[in-house]
Amino acid sequence: MTALSNPPNPVAIDTRPANHVSGAAEHADRVEPAVIQVRDLSVYYGQFHAVGGVTFDVPQNKITALIGPSGCGKSTVLRCINRMNDLVPTARVVGEINYHGVNINDPRVDPVGVRRRIGMVFQKPNPFPKSIYDNVAWGAKVNGIRANMDDLVEQCLRRAALWDEVHDKLQQSGLALSGGQQQRLCIARALANNPDVILMDEPCSALDPISTLRIEDLMRELIQDVTIVIVTHNMQQAARVSDQTVFFSLGENRMGQLIEASPTRELFTNPRDSRTEDYITGRFG
Ligand SMILES: Nc1ncnc2c1ncn2[C@@H]1O[C@H](COP(=O)(O)OP(=O)(O)OP(=O)(O)O)[C@@H](O)[C@H]1O
Ligand SMILES: [Mg+2]
Repeated sequence: MTALSNPPNPVAIDTRPANHVSGAAEHADRVEPAVIQVRDLSVYYGQFHAVGGVTFDVPQNKITALIGPSGCGKSTVLRCINRMNDLVPTARVVGEINYHGVNINDPRVDPVGVRRRIGMVFQKPNPFPKSIYDNVAWGAKVNGIRANMDDLVEQCLRRAALWDEVHDKLQQSGLALSGGQQQRLCIARALANNPDVILMDEPCSALDPISTLRIEDLMRELIQDVTIVIVTHNMQQAARVSDQTVFFSLGENRMGQLIEASPTRELFTNPRDSRTEDYITGRFG
């Protein structure tokens, strides 16, 4: 298992504007630069080849949705983007994930640094059993962020569209909030590390429709400052919220494969691949 301590010769994770990304010229016709380039990614769990040959770009300040049937590897691919699969002992990742031009799978890259820049929000809201205030402040403190904590907590709760509901009960437990509020608290907690990218794995699947729409609105606001990659089972959600949609399917031996990555409107109105069409029209999956 990869050590999570600082490696001896770390490769700096840098936050230059993404148009410095090497190879950006090949996508010069695109309006927005890629923050992340996934190149020929394969993931194995033991002997099982879970996903293979995955190549796509994540454009900056946009929302990219990963969709496809259960087991096609959406979460697996998402977890590669901030090296969460390092924490799965049987997982082996092959291929490149370039983040601002640095291959994050380079052994000299510190995965903790990667996760600071590329945060994650999970399916089930998982606040710490701490106060609302500490949920936001704690991660920032641990990561050595030196800021006026009161200001940081307020700013993150405001950005997560939660401040108005909690400003008078910051010392109350985060676990006492509703599911939708807890998820917004988790987003505020992720924001406290000042991430560049936020990965979300089915962030609304445990929420009611109103809370879901609030999170979707919030995502559209957040992309002024960050880039978002979301896994969703809900095609309407992908269509509503994302700019780009990446469709995965199951191939031979149940290996997940990328079928197409297209601007969302295009994928849902004029899919390039008949397998995408079958999926979005409900003929399959
Ligand atoms: N920790 C693991 N160990 C072994 N196999 C795993 C592990 N995690 C995922 N897999 C397998 O890898 C494949 C892809 O799983 P993954 O969870 O990425 O799919 P998914 O598209 O996110 O599915 P869902 O929509 O159900 O969440 C599946 O066959 C799954 O059983
Ligand atoms: Mg999943």
